[in-house]
Amino acid sequence: MTDILPASTSAGDHILVERPETYPGVMVIRFNRPEKKNAITAAMYHRMTAALDEANGDETVRAVAFLGTPGCFSAGNDMGDFLAHALSGATEPPAAAVFIKALALAQKPLVSGVDGLAIGIGTTLNLHCDLTVASERSLFKTPFVDLGLVPEAASSLLAPAVIGHQRAFALLVAGEGLSAIAAHQAGLIWKLADPEAVEGETLALAANLARKPPEALRIARDLVRGPRPAVLARMDEELAHFSERLKSAEARAAFEAFMRR
Ligand code: COA
Repeated sequence: MTDILPASTSAGDHILVERPETYPGVMVIRFNRPEKKNAITAAMYHRMTAALDEANGDETVRAVAFLGTPGCFSAGNDMGDFLAHALSGATEPPAAAVFIKALALAQKPLVSGVDGLAIGIGTTLNLHCDLTVASERSLFKTPFVDLGLVPEAASSLLAPAVIGHQRAFALLVAGEGLSAIAAHQAGLIWKLADPEAVEGETLALAANLARKPPEALRIARDLVRGPRPAVLARMDEELAHFSERLKSAEARAAFEAFMRR
């Protein structure tokens, strides 16, 4: 049985925040907008940011697990939201920017379970996770440049460090997809699993972390992750370009082409 916490924003059921009784100490943040391939709207980012804040402040939450729906983790930022932001002339950063900072500053271990599409932030989110389980049918892809955009979520710093320059360039700049097997070999993900086993394996990993002494876990995790200021500084650097690119003619043409399909 699962206890669903009330959504604090109009993300409604598109983000489910769950505390499964069978996995004590684990908070699940689930993308649940399968009809739109779990594309993420501003309201969904706000809800996820609030959930991470809740996790930081609740000592009964010992680990956080990101999950999607069968066959789809997330198709990335909602293209309609991108277009609306581009047309609005808004000067404030996109909602994604607040969420990715919350990810970088999350105090509890983060795990993710990917089955299927992981596009844009659906890929870069995993760079902030401590353990990722993925099914072999998963595809990691970040078509930033094809959309007139640039990498985000400090991926331009983290991905080369994790998977090396050429694979990071192929992924983040050339927009080449990375299969789950390649992502596993490259060290982007921890473990491969059958599609129907991804969720159970992810939650079991999270529950295992949740059983560990929390203080030692926190210190060990901080040591392994290393200093965060460099990550936050790169996010700011990327964001300055990203915000400007969002309003560019190149990006607008790409968003409009997607919306017209
Ligand atoms: N934003 C908004 N809607 C999206 C979306 C996104 N990022 N990705 C998919 N959708 C919507 C589609 O518009 C479609 O809606 P509709 O049924 O109302 O027309 C629905 O989800 C299903 O998508 P569809 O394209 O028909 O599925 P597919 O299996 O043929 O292709 C993708 C899936 C993910 C490859 C394709 O939808 C895609 O390229 N999406 C954009 C991904 C992207 O560039 N994200 C931003 C990265 S920075």
